[in-house]
Amino acid sequence: MKKIAITGHTRGIGKALVHRLETSGNNNLFSIKGFSQSTGYNLQRVSTVKKVVQECLDWEADVLVNNAYVPDNQVRLLYSMYEQWVDKPKLIINMGAISSDSISNFAQMGYNKDWTPYVSDKARLDWASLQLSNQFKPGMCRVTMIKPGMVDTDSTEWLKGISNIDDIMMTADSVAEMIEWVITLEENTQMRNLSFDVGNFNG
Ligand SMILES: NC(=O)c1ccc[n+]([C@@H]2O[C@H](COP(=O)([O-])OP(=O)(O)OC[C@H]3O[C@@H](n4cnc5c(N)ncnc54)[C@H](OP(=O)(O)O)[C@@H]3O)[C@@H](O)[C@H]2O)c1
Repeated sequence: MKKIAITGHTRGIGKALVHRLETSGNNNLFSIKGFSQSTGYNLQRVSTVKKVVQECLDWEADVLVNNAYVPDNQVRLLYSMYEQWVDKPKLIINMGAISSDSISNFAQMGYNKDWTPYVSDKARLDWASLQLSNQFKPGMCRVTMIKPGMVDTDSTEWLKGISNIDDIMMTADSVAEMIEWVITLEENTQMRNLSFDVGNFNG
């Protein structure tokens, strides 16, 4: 049975992933452990990042889905887990955002107090993930970056009514399906980078 640790498992994409892994045809192949703020793991604290890594080691997790967006600490969790797993056939899946694929376009945009730090954090996560995935050899830890476009979750509620948003929203389950697919790849195959969307904002 593959042990899957998931941050941000109580809502949105993380919750859809838990549901999918528990109910899809593969359901008795997975055992799941979640780490979210409302279940006592506030990943804004560096001490919680260390605690999550230690619990993944103690539980002997096979996969970490580094899903919850936490400024700075999503990258910190990636590095901290990778340092422990580097020479083991483990898998770290990072949830990025498609916006980091066009970071130079975003660099031209005006400052927005929420959006600008988010996009630059995701770009940093993207580069960290790419660099670690580049180290991969058989038997080592695989690192995957998944970058969806707009997904219909609590975090995009504020966009409702803007532009063509309803046409370009994916469901959380469609993203969970991609994550499940990466989890089920053979251990000798590393998916480095997976960007996908169903369209962009009307210009
Ligand atoms: N939605 C999109 O359009 C979209 C697009 C591209 C990428 N993404 C990325 O996908 C990931 C999931 O997004 P989502 O839209 O599914 O989010 P969401 O619906 O807002 O859910 C956020 C999840 O993260 C947990 N969380 C938030 N802050 C936390 C903290 N400080 N410590 C621990 N857990 C925390 C929440 O836990 P509690 O419920 O316990 O608070 C919740 O389970 C994020 O990395 C996001 O950047 C989302």
